[in-house]
Amino acid sequence: MKIQIFQTHDELSDFVAGEILDTVRQKPEAMLTLATGDTPLLTYKKLSQLSINGDADWSRVKFAALDEWVGVPPENPGSCKSFLNENIFNRIPLQQQNIHLFDVRSADLEKECAKMDHFIRNHGPVDLMLVGIGVSGHIGFNEPGVSADLYSHVIDLESTTKSVGQKYFPSDIVLSQGITLGLKHILQAKKVIVIANGHHKAGIIKASLKGEITNNVPATLLRRHPGALFALDSEAATLLDS
Ligand code: GLP
Repeated sequence: MKIQIFQTHDELSDFVAGEILDTVRQKPEAMLTLATGDTPLLTYKKLSQLSINGDADWSRVKFAALDEWVGVPPENPGSCKSFLNENIFNRIPLQQQNIHLFDVRSADLEKECAKMDHFIRNHGPVDLMLVGIGVSGHIGFNEPGVSADLYSHVIDLESTTKSVGQKYFPSDIVLSQGITLGLKHILQAKKVIVIANGHHKAGIIKASLKGEITNNVPATLLRRHPGALFALDSEAATLLDS
């Protein structure tokens, strides 16, 4: 596990966008998982600019979703699917047939999990996984206490996740469960970048990097991954020396 600290969110986003593009340049059939959330928004803006001007071939790149809110219709602007459409798929020339998302309209979510696991088994492992971190230390929807042995699964959300998650939605919404890649997928990815910016992430970044390695803070498990990189801006890194 490595740590890289950037002065600003802008520099952090430039770096991460470059990492995604380099992965595709080096391996045009790479599999990517790119998180939703506020943190990587600027990264995706920069990635779309780079991909317009750049020389990467996106036609064979595979995309596996990280997570989705259960019970939220895909057309809701707060759904992960809406986010990915707006910030990635509308801007970067991925092929529809190479994209695999969780379909939460399905009556059988276990089957949705099996379909995702099958997609990753067939085309993976994931070459580059970009994940954010929740203030509880969750990765995707791998909430505190989750087993590290799980692949895709449905999980009850913690109260912090339900309340912080309101920020993505135009009006108040009941959030109760999520569907997510498991820690097993995350730990099997060749490279995992955990991106974090801002003072509000400083406490959980300190706990993730300096605290006990435990599934009660899922992000700490990434310290055992040789291909993990915590990419932080200086605000998120503020407490690391204290
Ligand atoms: C959300 C998502 C994660 C995301 C994280 C951080 O609940 N399930 O995939 O990475 O929390 O979000 P943000 O970047 O908005 O802080």
